[in-house]
Amino acid sequence: MSVTEQPAPAPGQDPGGDAAAEQLRDRISADSLTTRRDYLRIVATVSGGLAIGGVGVAAGILHRHGDSETLPAPKKVTDRLAPGQSIAFRYPGEEDRALAVRLGDGSLFGYSAVCTHLACAVLWREDRGPEGELYCPCHEGVFSARTGEVTAGPPPRPLPRILLTELADGSVWATATARSGEPLKDALCRQFGDSHPDASRQLGCPGAARTAGTARTTGTARTTGATESGRT
Ligand code: FES
Repeated sequence: MSVTEQPAPAPGQDPGGDAAAEQLRDRISADSLTTRRDYLRIVATVSGGLAIGGVGVAAGILHRHGDSETLPAPKKVTDRLAPGQSIAFRYPGEEDRALAVRLGDGSLFGYSAVCTHLACAVLWREDRGPEGELYCPCHEGVFSARTGEVTAGPPPRPLPRILLTELADGSVWATATARSGEPLKDALCRQFGDSHPDASRQLGCPGAARTAGTARTTGTARTTGATESGRT
C-alpha cells in the first residue's frame, strides 16, 4: 500500500485510537484478507494516511511487476521493520521478488527487487550513499531508495513501486503494485477500474463519480504513496 513517502506518525497522533483502523487490524489478524471486500477496507483507510504525491525485467521478455489490471491480494510482509532495515519478500506472486526498506527517518518504501537492466536481484545497502541505496551487483546499477529512480549504472527504468501499508500494530503489508515510473495513485486508479467506485472517489481517480459515497476518511493505517508533489 509508498509508496511512498511513508510519513512518520504525526506528533500526538494516536494510531491506535481509530475505530476503523481497529476494525481493519482485527480483520487482518483474523486472516480475513482473502476477499476483495477486505482488501478494499484497507484501501479505504488510505485517504487519511496515503501520501499521493509522489515495476522489472528485460523489456518485454518476462512478466513485470504491476502488469496486472486487477488488484493483487494484500500480503503481510513483516511484523515490524526498524529504521535502516530492509526485508525481502515475494509480491504479488510467489515468483516476484520484492524489497521493503525503512529509511533512517522512518520513511517506508516498497519496490520490485528485479533490476530493470537484466533482471538481477537488487539489494539494500544501508552503508552506501547518504541514506542507503538499492544496489544491483551485476553491473553496478544503483537506484534511489526514496524514489526507485536510477542514480547510476545501466538500468533503463526506475524500479517498480509496491504500495506498503503499515498498521497501528507495526505490521507492514503489501497491498498493490505499480509499473515502472507509474505513480501509485495512477496504478490504483487503473486497477480499481469501474468496479470499486467508492475507493476511486476517495483517491480522486479521474472519472470517478463525485457523488456522496460511503468512503471513510480514517487514517491510522499509514500507507506509503508515490508522489510527485509531496505528502497529503
Ligand atoms: Fe542490474 Fe545489470 S542487471 S545493473
